[in-house]
Amino acid sequence: MTTIETSSALDLLEDRELLRELAFVNGEWVGADDGGTFEVRDPASGRVLAEVPVFGATETTRALDAAGAAFETWGTTLAKERAAILRRWADLMRDNSEDLSLILTAEQGKPLSESRGEVEYAASFLEWFGEEAKRVYGDVIPTPMEGRRIVVFKEPLGVTGGITPWNFPSAMVTRKCAPAVAAGNTMVLKPAEQTPLSALAVCVLAERAGLPPGVLNVVTTPAEKAQEVGETMTSDPRLRMLGFTGSTEVGKLLMKQCADTVTKVSLELGGNAPFIVFEDADLELALGAMQSCKYRNSGQTCISANRILVQESVHDEFVAMLTDYAAGLVVGSGTEEGSQIGPLIDQQGLDKVERHIANALESGAEIVVGGSPHDRGGLFFQPTVLTGVSPEMDMSCEETFGPVAGIIPFRTEEEAIAIANDTPYGLCAYFFTKDLARAWRVGEALEAGIVGLNTGFVSTEVAPFGGVKQSGIGREGSKYGIEEWVDTKYFTFAGL
Ligand code: SIN
Repeated sequence: MTTIETSSALDLLEDRELLRELAFVNGEWVGADDGGTFEVRDPASGRVLAEVPVFGATETTRALDAAGAAFETWGTTLAKERAAILRRWADLMRDNSEDLSLILTAEQGKPLSESRGEVEYAASFLEWFGEEAKRVYGDVIPTPMEGRRIVVFKEPLGVTGGITPWNFPSAMVTRKCAPAVAAGNTMVLKPAEQTPLSALAVCVLAERAGLPPGVLNVVTTPAEKAQEVGETMTSDPRLRMLGFTGSTEVGKLLMKQCADTVTKVSLELGGNAPFIVFEDADLELALGAMQSCKYRNSGQTCISANRILVQESVHDEFVAMLTDYAAGLVVGSGTEEGSQIGPLIDQQGLDKVERHIANALESGAEIVVGGSPHDRGGLFFQPTVLTGVSPEMDMSCEETFGPVAGIIPFRTEEEAIAIANDTPYGLCAYFFTKDLARAWRVGEALEAGIVGLNTGFVSTEVAPFGGVKQSGIGREGSKYGIEEWVDTKYFTFAGL
């Protein structure tokens, strides 16, 4: 990757103790057995930010051993005590928000304002699941047999695993480890190779909050060794559950691996969100929503609007509004004042965006604004709007993961619903209308785990996040989120 001269967000850190270049196992900061490391780079400048350990099977097994040993105590620690630690951990994340945001922006590239929002989102999972720890209730069921009683307990599973993505390096870590440890489990977590520093910083604060050694372990490894680490986790019979956020392709692979040990999975996989603007919509509202669900994080979220369907009668007006808006977006590194669009994560990400645009142009789409890498060079891409996009084009069938809005015109409600549902994915769907009857009809007809009516912002710790079809299994966040991380035990007393 070419390097661009900008100052690094890490130069601004106040508490440099939050920046770690070692993995975290059994409460200790450790390197790889052979001392091997890999580089973590700033996507805005291409500069090396840090070097972290290359873990393999041996070190990962050691992390599983630590999680196994820690479970013996943590699994029976009072929910009230677990809750207090999670609360302190959440408070520490908020107290250190600025430094955590700088680390996040340095390794991921998103504007600092978005990183601050993500750190608050990450802390909210610790707070929420700490509170939920005290409410993992069971049941007493009226017995159908004389002399019996039936009770149901919810029990922690034991050792669990987490594999997290680079697009939300802080929030996806806590969205997995918070419910897991709140419910009394221990965890081995592998962050994405592009963004391990945020996960390690979260561990520093876990330590400060009093989380006992071995309850949360973070193993770092580059892409070439990810499969080895993943297989070590999934093939270990002690691993009782794996939470993963990432591509559908990798999710399927992990699910197959987990089948051998009948390990539970919670998978948050690819999306291909439709964003439908009906002719009776408030167009200003729909335009505002494009910021949160199309251009936020440079379009690199699983719930990014990927297919923008606009009813023919308002098509030209909406395209004109969106074009003005996209043309005015400020592209820059995350620490630059006013920056709204940061770099893409890596060259592979940029190549995919270019491939989608080239494919759309070949098939008859037109660029209204943007369409090329940005003059700043490196991994920066222009905010882009394309018209004349059709459901068959690559950008309609795969997640683009870039600041590119492809507009698909439609005539009728039935047609819009058919296009929206014509995908193997079903994570999130957005639509805009002022008609109450249509709101119910379309909301019920859309095949997605999350539906946003008249909004592009759906993320919150209190609501269940997850998809249908090939977008995943299980839910994260909310009261449903902690259910994934417990076993249900039916206990019957006879001879009473
Ligand atoms: C994701 O893209 O996977 C998560 C997005 C969110 O929670 O807002």
